[in-house]
Amino acid sequence: MITGTGITKTYKQRGNVLSGREVKALRGVDFSIEKGGAVSFIGESGCGKTTLGRIIAGLETHDGGEIVIDGVPMSSLKPRKREPYFRRIQLIHQDPYSALNPTRTVHQTLAAPLALRARRTGRPGSWMDERAEELLALVGLDPGYVLPRYPHQLSGGMRQRVVIARALTVDPEMLVADEATSMIDVSLRLGILSLLKDLRERLGVSVLFITHDVATARYIGEGGDLYVIYRGQVVERGQVETIIENPVHPYTQSLLSAIPVLHGLEKPGEQPVVPTAALDESKTDDGCLFARRCPFSTDRCASEVPSLAVTGAFPQEHSCFYPERRSVVATPLEAA
Ligand SMILES: Nc1ncnc2c1ncn2[C@@H]1O[C@H](COP(=O)(O)OP(=O)(O)OP(=O)(O)O)[C@@H](O)[C@H]1O
Ligand code: SF4
Ligand SMILES: [Mg+2]
Repeated sequence: MITGTGITKTYKQRGNVLSGREVKALRGVDFSIEKGGAVSFIGESGCGKTTLGRIIAGLETHDGGEIVIDGVPMSSLKPRKREPYFRRIQLIHQDPYSALNPTRTVHQTLAAPLALRARRTGRPGSWMDERAEELLALVGLDPGYVLPRYPHQLSGGMRQRVVIARALTVDPEMLVADEATSMIDVSLRLGILSLLKDLRERLGVSVLFITHDVATARYIGEGGDLYVIYRGQVVERGQVETIIENPVHPYTQSLLSAIPVLHGLEKPGEQPVVPTAALDESKTDDGCLFARRCPFSTDRCASEVPSLAVTGAFPQEHSCFYPERRSVVATPLEAA
């Protein structure tokens, strides 16, 4: 199990190192991912999803808060001692082409981590080839076809499967899939999603799925938790089906309003949410971070910070003073 408490991360804004302008990418995020569980992070571009996913995979540092893996606080270990913990969390990112070395065949790509594993566990060399074939078959590829090939000789979907097979070489406990299908041809996406779902069921590997797309989160994270992230903060958290069927935070409601096919949410509402592009980011927010975009904002919202909690008649946690069923619509940017 992996948990995070109060995770914060601030970047100096790109191109603004001298002026010292900062971006608060994460503002105190708590999360918890069970062994074999599924968790999805959704939110609009720039809300901090990738930053959080990279911190969880040990690929990015955080400024504040604590990550605990299997009961061990990572801050209690020297960086070198953290490595075996984070090795069990493998990141699959969106571009499988850049994730693979173009000068290596699939065989060479899988042989490197498998050789390391064989050495660590005292297995014979012959085990590596058998395991490479086994893993490729597990991700739905024909080993005889793909092993001698280079990445450019494979389709995007095949490449992403190779990336997943490589992640499996270390017997991970968790896969962090960051928009893992967004750069793959639409016709091949469902195959990758069902593969991740299948791996979760067959191997008991937990999956953290990062996406803009609620329908995808619902498919892959079936029965798991959904975290709705806005400007580096979780604004709604709970079982994915519960939130999709009955979102209570106006931000979640506006995200869902952009999904035309979900049952019960087809009709866009009347109350427009101000688009992100219209927000002046130099202004500070003393109250709810969503107040300047929210059609339901009151004086209280502008001065008091709502905390993430279960309140009202809804089972999920949310950070809104006025949880309600309502129908809102995200204003298209051109109309702003
Ligand atoms: N290395 C970095 N240096 C400076 N700023 C960064 C860096 N990485 C991310 N940021 C900033 O932190 C914020 C969160 O970025 P992040 O990539 O985590 O968002 P995201 O939710 O993954 O967005 P997207 O959906 O577009 O992938 C953004 O404002 C981004 O510009
Ligand atoms: S607390 Fe107020 S501003 Fe924030 S989401 Fe709820 S109604 Fe809107
Ligand atoms: Mg991202």
